[in-house]
Amino acid sequence: MPNLKPLIFAQKQKLFALSQRSFQTDLLPEGAKAYINGKWMNSIGATTFEVKNPYSKEVITEIANCDQSDAQIAVQAAREAFQKWGFETTGKERGAILNRWYQILTQKEAELGKILTLEQGKTLAEAKGEIQYSASYFDYYAGEARRIRGEVIPAPVLNRQHFHTREPIGVVAVITPWNFPAAMIARKAAAALAAGCTLVVKPAAETPLSALALAQTAEEAGLPKGCFNVIPADHDRIGDISKYLCESHDVNCISFTGSTGVGRLLLSQSASTVKRVCLELGGNAPFIVFESADIDIAVQSAIASKFRCSGQTCVSANRFYIHSKVHDSFVQKLGEAMSKFVCGNGIEKETTQGPLIHEKAVEKVQKLVDDAVSKGAKIVQGGKIIKGTTCYEPTILTNVSESMEIANEEIFGPVVAIQTFETEEEAIQKANSTRLGLAAYFFTNCMKQTFRVSRRIESGMIGINEGAISSAEAAFGGVKESGLGREGGSQGIDEFTQWKYICLRT
Ligand code: SIN
Repeated sequence: MPNLKPLIFAQKQKLFALSQRSFQTDLLPEGAKAYINGKWMNSIGATTFEVKNPYSKEVITEIANCDQSDAQIAVQAAREAFQKWGFETTGKERGAILNRWYQILTQKEAELGKILTLEQGKTLAEAKGEIQYSASYFDYYAGEARRIRGEVIPAPVLNRQHFHTREPIGVVAVITPWNFPAAMIARKAAAALAAGCTLVVKPAAETPLSALALAQTAEEAGLPKGCFNVIPADHDRIGDISKYLCESHDVNCISFTGSTGVGRLLLSQSASTVKRVCLELGGNAPFIVFESADIDIAVQSAIASKFRCSGQTCVSANRFYIHSKVHDSFVQKLGEAMSKFVCGNGIEKETTQGPLIHEKAVEKVQKLVDDAVSKGAKIVQGGKIIKGTTCYEPTILTNVSESMEIANEEIFGPVVAIQTFETEEEAIQKANSTRLGLAAYFFTNCMKQTFRVSRRIESGMIGINEGAISSAEAAFGGVKESGLGREGGSQGIDEFTQWKYICLRT
């Protein structure tokens, strides 16, 4: 049975850049550390990198800058831990630890939320929501750990039994993005640990603190050492570490959330060791409003989908196709709702829209808007970087056409780019005219249209009259170049297990 004794820090880490106030937390270690084999460690080279607040640009803290040697130690720790966690615990025991982890996350929502806002920039309300969202995966998979079923299939001869069991795949390397610094780890970790796997987590260079705080809460929940390791690294080292993780025979699975470009690279690097690769990649979600739709619901859903994390989510509505008969009413109602937004420092109560992650991100959004305007798009509202900040004005563009970059690229910012359509067939063709297929949304009050369109849309997830579709109970994932595999739901367990066929002569 795993060691359940919690280890709490004696010292509190003091974090800065919180709207000029300092903030103390015992969820992070004093000094720059990685978390390997249940210990807080400096990197082997004793090097560090700065973590900055995306709004104020102040340095929050310095953190261990791990390299390949640190990654190797973490993988060895995970390998060793796997022997016990994978084969000497029951699903019920693993579930009990995941359940405790869920409770700790829920209790510490406020503190974890602050750490998340500090490093990511999203509003405190959204950050706390992300902690609840993260916790929900531990809650869900705590139960799922006891339900990992095999199959007994009748054999073709009388004196044989054919058993099929599902075994944990082994050591999982988890590589996660900066837009959901806690939830993207939680979604993978909860399912992998439930299945009996152990993990090495490489968080995004921009947001390593939430990952380290998760490690502290894992320890408090009684997760045995070596099961959950965190190796932060800056942008210069990420490539080397990821390559090592992909090519190592000691890593059995790569689970990545991020861009399609990086996903492709990891897939090719993993080919030499023929390992399982689970990819949650970019999206380019269509958002179709048909003539019969309830426009208030469509507007509400557009806001939920487009403006979550200031538009920096893979499932954000990206291409708005509005039927010409309801276009004006949709634009007017959306504009009214957006005029109430307050952009600024995520830590301030009144802020509804935090900054984008860094200068490059806002510049990219501006470039897309400028290109669209130069080709005939009309700015209804917004259209500019908010001076001296990395916030972008919540923007509506109409008269958008296929020739514009904004109609073809993932915007990753708070811009609603609207095209019109006349027929259902035209909307479906436009929606499918991309190599990506993560999420799609459509709005209609016609039952037959609901089934017709959902069958034809090429995407892994569809929201019908709904803009917020993510949940621990649902299978999250894409088709085409949006990824491989599913996370969340009972399907999420499949990624971290493999079938074994056992043939018994009786
Ligand atoms: C993402 O943007 O990658 C994830 C969003 C979600 O889980 O809803």
